Amino acid sequence: MKNSFEHSMPNSEGYFGEYGGSFVPPELEKIMREINEAYEECCKDPDFQTELARLYKHFVGRPSPIFHAENLSNKYGVDIYLKREDLNHTGAHKINHCLGEAILAKKMGKTKLIAETGAGQHGVALATAAALVGLECDIYMGEVDIAKEHPNVVRMRILGANVIPATHGRKTLKEAVDAAFEAYLKDPITQLYAIGSVVGPHPFPKMVRDFQSIIGNEARVQFQEMTGKLPDNLVACVGGGSNAMGLFSAFLEDEQVAIHGVEPAGRSLQTPGEHAATLTLGEPGVMHGFKSYMLKDEQGEPQEVYSVASGLDYPSVGPQHSYLKDLGRVSYGSISDDEAIDAFFELSRQEGIIPAIESSHAVAYALKLAKQGVKGSILINLSGRGDKDIDFVVENYGAKYGIESLI
Ligand SMILES: Cc1ncc(COP(=O)(O)O)c(C=O)c1O
Repeated sequence: MKNSFEHSMPNSEGYFGEYGGSFVPPELEKIMREINEAYEECCKDPDFQTELARLYKHFVGRPSPIFHAENLSNKYGVDIYLKREDLNHTGAHKINHCLGEAILAKKMGKTKLIAETGAGQHGVALATAAALVGLECDIYMGEVDIAKEHPNVVRMRILGANVIPATHGRKTLKEAVDAAFEAYLKDPITQLYAIGSVVGPHPFPKMVRDFQSIIGNEARVQFQEMTGKLPDNLVACVGGGSNAMGLFSAFLEDEQVAIHGVEPAGRSLQTPGEHAATLTLGEPGVMHGFKSYMLKDEQGEPQEVYSVASGLDYPSVGPQHSYLKDLGRVSYGSISDDEAIDAFFELSRQEGIIPAIESSHAVAYALKLAKQGVKGSILINLSGRGDKDIDFVVENYGAKYGIESLI
């Protein structure tokens, strides 16, 4: 198995081709360098790696299994497999990097972890890691997402974290990142901003990718053990892009493996503000401290974005995805709200697995590929479970799927 900490990209300045880098105020430049140095030390420190491996196994429950979804495979005529990140402790892939970031923060002598969250999965995972290693935790979350993802808000509070509402703009993920950055700038010494995806200034896109690459490293071995070959297709949803990079990174050099990233087309790809299809419709730009594809409004500012999935509505994307798009190594497509909700019910009713709405985008895309006649096998990264979404889905879409009333 490849060492998850050995990757040739980014370069020493944090660039993946022209994307990435570190565009931060002068007071943060030194801090980012310190985080990078501390992280580089951890990569070489066997104690750090042993501790992380112990927690992945005994706390998270890794390796997460791969499940051959036979009912779906029979129905759609292509072999569909699921990498079950939904079975991790806390219910999503986010715990993979949160544990790494929490141990790093502790080693650096920080006393508080702060972060943004969209769907609440990163917030819950970070609150969990903070409780485990003994750090305070502040989570910034848009007011709209607080209402939508109520169960995760309750979980964060039970775990001892403060949940601080972001009340400006659309009150969703981008605004939560704005609020967390503002809070971080006030005290970057005692706090570590544990960014929730492969975004932000260097070294975060690299660091979060490395922690998440356990997904792909496991999957590569497991899939070959199960089938004797590599998957023909990989599919993962892309918000900031961490679960996708986690899976893709182990297969980038396998040219025979087709790789698909899935963005949210929301209510309409044609109307600005009604989707968050950054790689599909964006252009290069800088926000939140890094350069990547970005959805811009007429003034060149981040466009308002929308998706039914609170973890996918972000107007930028991890810089390595932008690089892989330009390179043509990964194809990026999009899935609408309605298609994602259809897939949410399809997976629930065909396989007995309720997926997160974010992950439902990947499932929907895989089913679309199957309908278009893609051959061979498709490995979907099932990034999270849907418990957090059930009330919202039933309230807003239940009638269409025969759930008129819950009583
Ligand atoms: C279950 C799940 N999948 C995917 C995402 C999207 O994040 P990323 O693109 O960083 O994997 C989120 C974000 O909250 C999530 O909760």
